Amino acid sequence: MSDFGIIGIGRIGTSMARNMSSKGIIVSLYDKSHNSLDNLKSDYPELESSLVFDDINKFISSISKPRKVLVLVPSGPALDEVISLLIQYLDSNDILIDGGNTNPNVSFKNHQTIKSKNFLYLGMGVSGGVKGVLEGPSIMIGGDSNAFDQVKNIFSQITSKTINGSKSFEFFGDSNQGHFVKMIHNGIEYVEMQLISSIYYLMINSKKYTYDDVTKIFKKWNDIDLNSYLLEISLLKLTEKIDDSYLLDRIDDKADDNGTGRWMLKHAIDLGCSVSMLNAAIDSRFISNNNNTRSKANKLIIEDKKEYDIDFESLANAYKFCRLINYFQAFLLMDSANQSYGWNISISNALNVWSNGSIIKSNLINALLNDYLVDNILDDKNIFNNLNELKSGLINILNTSLTNDISLPCFNEALNYFNQISSPSLSTKLIQAQRNYFGSHKIKLN
Ligand code: 6PG
Repeated sequence: MSDFGIIGIGRIGTSMARNMSSKGIIVSLYDKSHNSLDNLKSDYPELESSLVFDDINKFISSISKPRKVLVLVPSGPALDEVISLLIQYLDSNDILIDGGNTNPNVSFKNHQTIKSKNFLYLGMGVSGGVKGVLEGPSIMIGGDSNAFDQVKNIFSQITSKTINGSKSFEFFGDSNQGHFVKMIHNGIEYVEMQLISSIYYLMINSKKYTYDDVTKIFKKWNDIDLNSYLLEISLLKLTEKIDDSYLLDRIDDKADDNGTGRWMLKHAIDLGCSVSMLNAAIDSRFISNNNNTRSKANKLIIEDKKEYDIDFESLANAYKFCRLINYFQAFLLMDSANQSYGWNISISNALNVWSNGSIIKSNLINALLNDYLVDNILDDKNIFNNLNELKSGLINILNTSLTNDISLPCFNEALNYFNQISSPSLSTKLIQAQRNYFGSHKIKLN
């Protein structure tokens, strides 16, 4: 009999199975596609002791009770299909763990369905990608605490060590908080990716700078407090070549998404919170995909490549400023969710669990934990002082981008947001007055 079942032996499922097996955990693996299973044991000798099935009945019977079954399939029809199947085969008190990127709203509904059948549920966000999941992912969990108690020993074996010395998994609450925290992680990830990409773009669009210059800057930053996993992998991609040309000179610029950023934006809208940086990051992916508009517009407006200087101290400060605002907006959204949904997600625990194994791991996360009051960010004078000091760097960079027609998604939004929250009075005064005029909406006088 095995200790644990995994359904969905794609790239992430395989990494998870290899990670568990290498810790001596006997796993049963199921995938409805033969292709995923055929060469598994010969490709990965550490899976020798695992039990591999393409028959769900045999798979279920091979797991010792109460069964723990981790589902790693895309959310949507594939997940729905697996859940309906498992409902037919599991016994009461068996544990179904959804380890995919699932919309927290869907995770909530799935929990209700599974609970009504007397099974236990964990909604679990897993970060790290193919390599991270193999070497020690960051795991964010929500659902039945009684289920968590039964699997935490396994998670403790397969995760990494966080900045505070714990293992990189955390239980965030008795409902869909695990998937919610993963969604926030992904929103932060989208903005971090866009910021790095905007910086590369600003540099490479001036005749003054080459790929070598961009890599020099990224390398320098990686050796200091600006280090992050995403900056490291960007550096690798910047130096990659195909047939003597840089990958980035050949690669199609249309950027896809799997929906997690959109979910976060929708949650923020529902809660009335601004995540303007995420919005800009998502918009830039949308615009990149808008072939028709782009091809028409860029035929009509042709600009020669410009030649401009970049002040690198300003650039570093602008980058720091934008990253702080990104986290600031994410913290306020988490705070608002805690208040509106009666949750108790600890922002410092989320940062801690992201501090190793996750895609957004960085020195900044460590600094946020050490230097700022992340659980009460609005009471932290330090962050406002830092932002104020860094702001002139951002203004410099925005000037360079505006005078040279370079769009810097997320940078403008960071400054706009900061200027608005730090101003005692906003343009929305007149909006209230306009609403009052045409809709007889009440106005409040101070
Ligand atoms: C992770 C990532 C991962 C996510 C991808 C894709 O933490 O390992 O967040 O879960 O699915 O980054 O996101 P997009 O396809 O939307 O860019």
